[in-house]
Amino acid sequence: RLHTIGRGSLAKCLQKVDTFLHRNIGTNVVAVQEKNGFKSLYAVQAERQEQAEKSVLISCHSRTNEQKFLKYIANYGDIQKYFFYESYGMYAVVEFANQESVASLLEGTAIPSISHESLVPFKSRLLSMRNLDAVDLPNQSSGKKRQAQTSIPINELIQRLSKEESIDQQITSLTEAYQLTEENCRLRFLVCSLLKDIAAAFFPECTIMPFGSSVNGFGKLGCDLDMFLDLDGISGKNATMPKSGLFLEYQMKRANLERIVTQNILSVIGECVDQFGPGCVGVQKILNARCPLVRFVHQPSGFQCDLTANNRVAMKSTELLYLYGELDPRVRHLVFTVRCWARAHSITSSIPGAWISNFSLTVMVLFFLQRRSPPIIPTLDHLRDLAGPEDKCVIEDNDCTFVSDFSKIQLESNTETLEQLLCEFFEFYSSFSFRTLSINIRKGKEQNKPEVAPLHIQNPFETTLNVSKNVNASQLDRFVALCQESSWLIQQNKTAPSRGGTKAKGAITPWGVSTLLLPSQVAGIKSRKRRKFEPASERIKSLLESLKNINKELN
Ligand code: CTP
Ligand code: MG
Repeated sequence: RLHTIGRGSLAKCLQKVDTFLHRNIGTNVVAVQEKNGFKSLYAVQAERQEQAEKSVLISCHSRTNEQKFLKYIANYGDIQKYFFYESYGMYAVVEFANQESVASLLEGTAIPSISHESLVPFKSRLLSMRNLDAVDLPNQSSGKKRQAQTSIPINELIQRLSKEESIDQQITSLTEAYQLTEENCRLRFLVCSLLKDIAAAFFPECTIMPFGSSVNGFGKLGCDLDMFLDLDGISGKNATMPKSGLFLEYQMKRANLERIVTQNILSVIGECVDQFGPGCVGVQKILNARCPLVRFVHQPSGFQCDLTANNRVAMKSTELLYLYGELDPRVRHLVFTVRCWARAHSITSSIPGAWISNFSLTVMVLFFLQRRSPPIIPTLDHLRDLAGPEDKCVIEDNDCTFVSDFSKIQLESNTETLEQLLCEFFEFYSSFSFRTLSINIRKGKEQNKPEVAPLHIQNPFETTLNVSKNVNASQLDRFVALCQESSWLIQQNKTAPSRGGTKAKGAITPWGVSTLLLPSQVAGIKSRKRRKFEPASERIKSLLESLKNINKELN
């Protein structure tokens, strides 16, 4: 456990993480780290986790004198890295060079006394700095920006993209604007680490790791924080059982189903987060879901958090998505653009419902990239065939084995541009036979649908499950209608309008990807059948009309 072994040398510490991950997840961190210039997800996570354990989160006055603040904090040890950010107040994340500094900082803190109120005496690493001299003017002395942790509004993005010279540049610019920043990523690991301090009251050897879009490379600023409480290291699930010797008696408190154990654990941890978790509000225990979870908002970071346990398959699908995203830069660019387009048209939503999820959408993009000629990314079956013995991973009878050594993966030489790929994506799904076929990234080929569901996307590891089981027919129809509309729109608006000329100063005309993010004419339709009654020319006319109106608004 990093928290305790951090007092030893860094090498020893990494070795422990390595052994731990190798035993539990079947991945040898040190061996796969930075092979061929790529870092494995587990190497990234081990590094980030170590940073987080040495970090504290401090709420401070909006006009905090940065120099005085740093001088004060440096009394407890050398500062490795720090940054300020805004989220309903000003906060600082400070990473110390050594773990000991965190302990000495906590020793030096006092629990405030509030009259008529009693406080839970829990010394967490969420602190607040009081009564340090503020400066009179907003502090800009260091020139460091105090970042907001949310993405730019869609209208601003449309304007920004319209200033680019090509569709390829628009797509890269969109990714840059929306992807998680280094600071946001650190903050996500820090929140997991703060949560782990609470769970560690019961399970001192546990870890809490982010999964999903926080770490798979496809996360947008403001996306939720999916967390995984990992207890397998304690129960020694994958270790071989000795025939005789000492066994831990407390573990003999058991239930007959693993799901019930997970529910019990999450119920207790959820209660602790609710009662003792500083900054954790709106705690909901959603224990009857297929994957039981505790949902809450971590106010100081602004993150909507989902804490799960015993969810190692999701960890593997996170690793798979991360790998695909690292293989070719076009993967991430296309996923970001499609996700942003889908959100702009309410194809996806932050509220759970009958809509397509970001995860489903990402798998659809991956599938499309596997169907290119030549394919841009390999099939999951191919990645499994490349796996070595160290990659073997079976979770609850599901084969989750795939190669972790990037250098074994040979890519084909597809030279399609982002513009071509985006146009082709819309074409591909405009005419995909959703009625009869299932999307399958394991085979990289459409399969016959095994069950009746409007949209069938095979779960890559739990192959009997449909990732998009929740999607209803009208949501799928909206998706197809929007693909058709966007396919047409992008063809019509492929070139940037010439600058200057007769246009008013500062006027920006949306073009290319920007036009795809403007409100749609077909977004409201319930079914494809209805569209047949409206002549195409009428639809095109009303589309152009709406483009003109939006232009006016933007200008
Ligand atoms: N997951 C899964 N099967 C599903 C849904 C989710 O395996 N049917 C896993 C995926 O690894 C996914 C993660 O759980 O990435 C988190 O799910 P979710 O938060 O819904 O998706 P994200 O990829 O995190 O996207 P978002 O940015 O919308 O949160
Ligand atoms: Mg998520």
